[in-house]
Amino acid sequence: MLNVVIFGAPGSGKGTQSELIIKAYGLDHISTGDVLRAEIKGQTELGNIAEGYISKGQLVPDELIIDMLAKVLDSKKTSEGVIFDGFPRTIPQAKALKVMLNERGTDVSVMLNLEVAEEELIQRLLKRGEISGRSDDNLETIKSRLAVYHSQTAPLATYYMEEGKHSAIKGMGTVEDIFTRVQEAINAIK
Ligand code: AP5
Ligand code: MG
Repeated sequence: MLNVVIFGAPGSGKGTQSELIIKAYGLDHISTGDVLRAEIKGQTELGNIAEGYISKGQLVPDELIIDMLAKVLDSKKTSEGVIFDGFPRTIPQAKALKVMLNERGTDVSVMLNLEVAEEELIQRLLKRGEISGRSDDNLETIKSRLAVYHSQTAPLATYYMEEGKHSAIKGMGTVEDIFTRVQEAINAIK
């Protein structure tokens, strides 16, 4: 199984590169942000709780996310592997993911860390905000998403370095050029 964690700040291109990876490698895609937005749309209990956190740019509590992830993972049993997009975002989530995958006889294969300058992130997200309808694509919420990323999520790079699974990817330039770098990193571990 090929299990890829696609990692990076808000707007770094996780979703964009995931789509290309899915096509090239036939992996299942789990984006916790997409799952949460579907829950909000469906006005489920989880969606109603998540909405308050997402619109403020804060993380949804670990227990809720880990429980949700386990359920989604179980629905993907037959896959070649999974691309995890937007998860893990905290050290407890990374540890929970390791346990969940180990219980299923597998593990994270590689963590791809998309590195993009802050000014570029803000420009991308403001531009998307003009059409996305996402409650978190406005300047105030973008700033809190970036602050949360630096304080709670960025430390995961060190966690995966210590696991020997961290791969830095230059995330600036064209989508195609970045995907070439992504493929090189994946092929290096296959
Ligand atoms: P989530 O949905 O994961 O959002 P995010 O991390 O803020 O990242 P985005 O989806 O905005 O960006 P992306 O990196 O996918 O980039 P994209 O490809 O879209 O999470 C949202 C919220 O849900 C969180 O804030 C939190 O509240 C909650 N949540 C989710 N997961 C959670 C978890 N595990 N724990 C707790 N809470 C959780 O690209 C961005 C834009 O740039 C697009 O318009 C794209 O077209 C454009 N673009 C992409 N590549 C390029 C390029 N090379 N050049 C120019 N433009 C580009
Ligand atoms: Mg995304």
